[in-house]
Amino acid sequence: MTDIVEIINKAEITHSLTKMEIALLLTDHEWDQQLFMAADRVRNKNVGDQVHLRGLIEFSNICQRNCYYCGLRKDNGKVERYWLTPATIIEFATKAQEYGYKTVVLQSGENDVYTLADMQYMIGQIKALGLAITLSVGEKTRDEYEAYKKAGADRYLLRIETTDRKIYEKLHPGMSFENRVRCLTDLKELGYEVGTGCLVGLPEQTLESLAEDILFFKTLDVDMVGLGPFIPNDDTPLASERGGTFMLSLKVMAITRLLLPDVNIPATTAMEALNKDGRMIALQSGANVVMPNVTEGEYRKLYLLYPGKICTGDTPAHCRGCITSKIVGIGRRVATGCGYRVKK
Ligand code: 5AD
Ligand code: SF4
Ligand code: FES
Repeated sequence: MTDIVEIINKAEITHSLTKMEIALLLTDHEWDQQLFMAADRVRNKNVGDQVHLRGLIEFSNICQRNCYYCGLRKDNGKVERYWLTPATIIEFATKAQEYGYKTVVLQSGENDVYTLADMQYMIGQIKALGLAITLSVGEKTRDEYEAYKKAGADRYLLRIETTDRKIYEKLHPGMSFENRVRCLTDLKELGYEVGTGCLVGLPEQTLESLAEDILFFKTLDVDMVGLGPFIPNDDTPLASERGGTFMLSLKVMAITRLLLPDVNIPATTAMEALNKDGRMIALQSGANVVMPNVTEGEYRKLYLLYPGKICTGDTPAHCRGCITSKIVGIGRRVATGCGYRVKK
């Protein structure tokens, strides 16, 4: 047996690897299929064959941050900005519930358009529909996180993006790595199910640094890990960078599954932007969640984080049917429950 196969076996059995071992897996290409198959087995054994759907509502593309990679950054003057009213957001959530979603993800750029009272009102109303609520609205104070939680929010997504401080601070002007970690720690302490994740293929990011990202997810004991390739956006300072590949993102995801066997891992939209079967391949390499867009109307086209974003011309009803047939097509089932993490 080669060293690589031994590392894959060790990860499948013990769910633990050193940084060096992860970096070796990421360097190798010969045994990629064995890695994906092992991640698929670990997924099946720990979280089963059900795929959880989360309905994503992109409720405002207004952002006061200037992340170098992101199309919604404040200094991108080409974006037509929008913000949905709380009433519209609640209406979209109601429709999502009618389409059979059990969770909605409320995502926006980081902004102060919505007051705390707005947020509490929306969360309360959506919660009353019997939906689980995931928030993804960026860095806030502990008090704000606590107020959202009390209002009924269940989960929170905040990617660390990269654990390499130098890269982090270069790409996030005016932001600090410490505060990012503070947010994640607060969210955990407040009882949220916490999701984090990283971008794969950032400028100057090394395989060792990606290994550190995976170990960070494990150390923090997060409940969800969403990751995908960095896709350069023409209207950002990183326009001429190379970006991440589908294969490397898939490998980082598969290793994440081996090391965090019971967490929820989405097959992300960015993966499908680089490979037309990206989400289904991801579901067969460790992922167990898909987050179809349930934003209605013309807004999806305006939520352009990166070019080539999928489903921007489709309706929520179409995506719901499309994703179900794809999931059934690979021999899996759409889950019937809310899909909380069941800790092993
Ligand atoms: N390519 C891929 N993902 C991106 N995101 C932002 N910009 C890009 C890009 N150019 C991701 C970030 C953020 C999430 C909402 O979108 O990781 O956390
Ligand atoms: Fe704003 Fe999020 Fe984009 Fe950063 S990644 S610019 S915080 S929307
Ligand atoms: Fe949107 Fe397939 S999930 S078109």
